[in-house]
Amino acid sequence: MEQNISEVLVLEEGQTPPPGTTMPPRQSRWDDTFSYIANPDRFCRDNLRKYGPIFNTGVFGGTTIFVGSARANQMVFNGDLQYTEIALPNTTMDMFGEYSLFQRPDLHRQRKSALRLGLTGRFLEGYIPYINQAIAHGLQNWNVPARIKLYPEVEKICFDLLTPLLLGVKLDDSDRQTFEGLSLSSKAELKALYKTYFDGFYGLWRWNSPLTAYGRGMKARTKLLEFMRAAIQHRKSAEEKINPTTDFLAMMLASQKENPNGVFSDALIENQCLLQLWASDYEISGLISSLIYQLGRYPEVLKKLRKEQVEIKSEQGNFRSFSVEQLKQMVFLEATIKETLRTLPPSSTAKRRLTKSVVLDGVLYAKGCSVMAEPRLAHIMAEHFPEPDRFVPERFLAPRNEGKMYEFIPFGGGVHACLGAQMAMVVTKIFAAHILHLFDWQLTQEATFVQFPLKKLKDDYEISLQKCESVT
Ligand code: HEM
Repeated sequence: MEQNISEVLVLEEGQTPPPGTTMPPRQSRWDDTFSYIANPDRFCRDNLRKYGPIFNTGVFGGTTIFVGSARANQMVFNGDLQYTEIALPNTTMDMFGEYSLFQRPDLHRQRKSALRLGLTGRFLEGYIPYINQAIAHGLQNWNVPARIKLYPEVEKICFDLLTPLLLGVKLDDSDRQTFEGLSLSSKAELKALYKTYFDGFYGLWRWNSPLTAYGRGMKARTKLLEFMRAAIQHRKSAEEKINPTTDFLAMMLASQKENPNGVFSDALIENQCLLQLWASDYEISGLISSLIYQLGRYPEVLKKLRKEQVEIKSEQGNFRSFSVEQLKQMVFLEATIKETLRTLPPSSTAKRRLTKSVVLDGVLYAKGCSVMAEPRLAHIMAEHFPEPDRFVPERFLAPRNEGKMYEFIPFGGGVHACLGAQMAMVVTKIFAAHILHLFDWQLTQEATFVQFPLKKLKDDYEISLQKCESVT
């Protein structure tokens, strides 16, 4: 959708809005935060029906204006340094640390374009053989026939895949050298620390004590940074010439060597490794398990996906490892992943606080309020996605071509759009292609989801899994 951001009227101090400007509807309520956290889907759906795609809430304190329409989303996503600032709780910002892309808007563009190299384009394509191998290896442990706990089993594979790729650390407990000199001694220890770190992001009190999620999270963060510091030194001393395309850490270390005064200080590198793993493991695991769940609900979509795999296989003959070319041909699979992201978006976007009042399309967004672009609104608006309650991957393909910029926002948009979106799509595609060849599965019951902070299947949700006899 083409639209001009200059249409956003930014009001200077004391300037009055044009005549006819209105306020967003709905009064904030004291229990909005509870209602939203308990069930964000229902909160968004009910209010969209009553008030339309822009309305006031009291979610997370003060007035937070929820928006879902494409034009308002674009306004929210592009206000950095002009009329918005990131407005996450202090606890979350402490957990991110000073090197997160949500801090320092003045350095954001420079840091982001330097980091992008290691997560996109030819670097990402170079990771594909490794991603295939890690998924194939992980899926060997899915013994069939069996009932498996879907999310934890997917997450195990994603963690084993993403840690070496982003932290540049091998995860082989049986090899004594793996953790030598690294301040942690096992994969389980690393994983447990990560979990504590993750939980710390959503601690409610900024009380640095072992009694609070925040305090435990901050301690885990310190330990993880120590671990990364050692891993970086280890890598620097072990490799004379670092190949930048091996993994994300190698990309940053090679760049640092080439330009010691550039973006990549040791501190930035340590922090980015942690943050990228934080940003990816749970999100990608959530997406893959939701995709498997949706395919269990819609067998006709599964059938079409298997047909697409047969056509691809017959051209290339290899279905143990999918090439870049083969992945490009999986257009229906890509559309199905997008439809999963539309119907079960893993996360909302961050809140932004308005540092100035702005007017867009006759609506005043007042200074001091917060704004939040919500995929749970944008993705169920019939103006963006006709018949939004139907699961129809074809909507993302010609001739429908739905899912336009700022209407489809699972990865946010604008200046803070997700840095790992391409990587998430590639990992999910390869994972899906493997299981389409290896397994048949049935749902055991209707799923229940954890809704907040990320939408994901509950850990105890099981599917029943068998060997796939033939991909037809
Ligand atoms: C299904 C997977 C993923 C989903 C749904 C997702 C979602 C999002 C969303 C909604 C935002 C925007 C937040 C905002 O503007 O308020 C975001 C930003 C970000 N994501 Fe992701 N993400 C995923 C995977 C990843 C991966 C794999 C990485 C890195 C390896 C990553 C790294 C980042 C970073 C660094 C940002 C901040 C970008 C900036 O501030 O400029 N994400 N993500």
